[in-house]
Amino acid sequence: MILTITMNPSVDISYPLNTLHINDINRVANVRKTAGGKGLNVTRGVKFSGIEVLASGIVGGTTGEYIQKQLDSDNIYYHFYVTKHESRNCIAILHEGNQTEILESGPTLGQKEVDAFLAHYQTLMDKAKVMTISGSLPQGFPVDFYATLIQIANKKGIPVLLDSSGKMLLATLVSEHKPYLIKPNKDELQQIIQMDIDVNDTASLIKAVDHPLLNAIPYIIISLGKNGAFARCYQQYYQVSIPKINVVNPVGSGDVTLAGLAVSIHENESIETMLKRAMTMGMLNAMESQTGFVNMHNYDDYFQQVIVNQIY
Ligand SMILES: Nc1ncnc2c1ncn2[C@@H]1O[C@H](COP(=O)(O)OP(=O)(O)OP(=O)(O)O)[C@@H](O)[C@H]1O
Ligand SMILES: [Mg+2]
Repeated sequence: MILTITMNPSVDISYPLNTLHINDINRVANVRKTAGGKGLNVTRGVKFSGIEVLASGIVGGTTGEYIQKQLDSDNIYYHFYVTKHESRNCIAILHEGNQTEILESGPTLGQKEVDAFLAHYQTLMDKAKVMTISGSLPQGFPVDFYATLIQIANKKGIPVLLDSSGKMLLATLVSEHKPYLIKPNKDELQQIIQMDIDVNDTASLIKAVDHPLLNAIPYIIISLGKNGAFARCYQQYYQVSIPKINVVNPVGSGDVTLAGLAVSIHENESIETMLKRAMTMGMLNAMESQTGFVNMHNYDDYFQQVIVNQIY
């Protein structure tokens, strides 16, 4: 089973408008409300791949209840730590080909929730073979909280795939408790290593994945949008090329890419298959309008078009 952690999930609300009228009333008919947060996109990606998955994290209030109801209707297993503090709403206004987003930061939690979640988390570990951690932490949580989760998982021999950014990623990288895999995109990695990366220059990519901050991490997968990915798996480097596709909505592609990586590790697949699976999932998501959705009917077709080149 794959355990996915989403510490700050949301109800994602999408408002499609022909025109956004500022300082005026905007009426909207086709509202879509889904359970959101990067880790829940990972959860759906694993579910679409046919592997057993359990979603956890913290939810609260009526928004938290709504998130759980949505997961029920998608037949997704979950076991969150439940608080009284309302989970957040995130609003995306789609207008004139643009997407204007209003993102609540979510509840501010404290030491009580930190301790309670850690106790809850320990009870989930027994059945997990692989674990993913995605996105941001609730306000009030220590910035190195993911390192604590990784420390506990590492003790139990559960590999952790981490997709976070900024201070939270950095705090994990400098701690002694290392994730098994990270999947930054180019911007996220540049921010961490304070270095410009030229995606068309293999030497620049090698220099980035060889940065001392990343030394002790076995798998570094830099996802590069339409340019595929570059990976270091232990001491081997891989350039991954993907076909040109018809992009509808790439948001969440990195999340289902992480789902593909988790599934592969869960199934003990080869590195080549892992990279192909991950890229195929990302492309399938980018071709759909719904974030975190993939149409697995097209899986084999795109999988065969991904090229993995090992660099010696
Ligand atoms: N425009 C695109 N064309 C083709 N494939 C894409 C495109 N965007 C994303 N993908 C696929 O999805 C993978 C992950 O995308 P990307 O590198 O944009 O992740 P990300 O920035 O972490 O996204 P997010 O955080 O929104 O989920 C890519 O490696 C690729 O396989
Ligand atoms: Mg991402």
